[in-house]
Amino acid sequence: MAIVTSFERLSEEDKYQRFMERIEAGEKIEADDWMPDEYRMTLIKLIAMHGISEIMGALPEKEWVPKAPTLRRKLGIMAKVQDEMGHGQLLLRVAEDLMAPLGKTREEIMQDLFSGNLKFHNVFHMPAPTWGDAGLIGWLVDGAAIITQTNMLDASYGPYARALKRICAEEVFHAQHGESIILALAEGTKEQKEMLQGALNRWWDALLMFFGPDSPSTTGTSKQDITIKYRIRTKTNEQLRQDFFTKYVPRILSIGLQLPDETMHYDETEGKWIYRQPDWNQFKEIIRNNGPKSKERLRLRELSYRHNAWVREALSGSKATV
Ligand SMILES: [Fe+2]
Ligand SMILES: [Fe+2]
Repeated sequence: MAIVTSFERLSEEDKYQRFMERIEAGEKIEADDWMPDEYRMTLIKLIAMHGISEIMGALPEKEWVPKAPTLRRKLGIMAKVQDEMGHGQLLLRVAEDLMAPLGKTREEIMQDLFSGNLKFHNVFHMPAPTWGDAGLIGWLVDGAAIITQTNMLDASYGPYARALKRICAEEVFHAQHGESIILALAEGTKEQKEMLQGALNRWWDALLMFFGPDSPSTTGTSKQDITIKYRIRTKTNEQLRQDFFTKYVPRILSIGLQLPDETMHYDETEGKWIYRQPDWNQFKEIIRNNGPKSKERLRLRELSYRHNAWVREALSGSKATV
């Protein structure tokens, strides 16, 4: 005979209220706990996109593994690529547990990526034509990722918060690896300095877009507000972008680089950075897989997914989806 707990006897409304009380008390929600559909769906979307972006994010740097200028740099960038793939695996496992009660599998995440239903982060649609770009990705893209991810270290969903703890610790190494490349170029020849400035100019808008558009937080209906409502994160896109400026603008200037935005300044009275907005229509196009490297990288991912089907078959004991 099935045992019906007092919680199960509650109405949906009362369950929701209990759930919100737990969230507001700072309790962690675990995979087997009752959760509203909106919370589950928000987490699946967020974590699947995060996980898949880690995997797609390995591709621009992977191109630089054979071309890194020294053995030391090659080992560094190779270890970083490996870490990013590990982050992807860790996160897809978290997403998988959330999807299971809906009868959905992890395979579907990859299929959604290939069909264009699941988007990956705008920065990973961009080219990395020089060694300066490879360094800049580590320094500023991973730097931006640290800012958004540390904001979720205390996320209400326990499995995500725990995965992020490990991921953030490794991201700090990535940022240091990037910074080391950047500092070497900044102290190098005129050509190296120009290469670095060129990479910053190329990446500036993508870095601004990294945090996403500022949302109309007053409407209370945007996705951004849902993540804040459920205490998955605490800061808005714009607050995170401002944190990024506060941390990195002084560093960029201190190594002799110029900001690609001549209007940029800190407004003391408003207490925030004033900057030129990137083209948000272009952002939408990029994440719709119409960025400069979108198609090429998706093809590459699909190819390795097909080539590695035998590994999934060996591990699961059943025929893998290709
Ligand atoms: Fe990562
Ligand atoms: Fe990283």
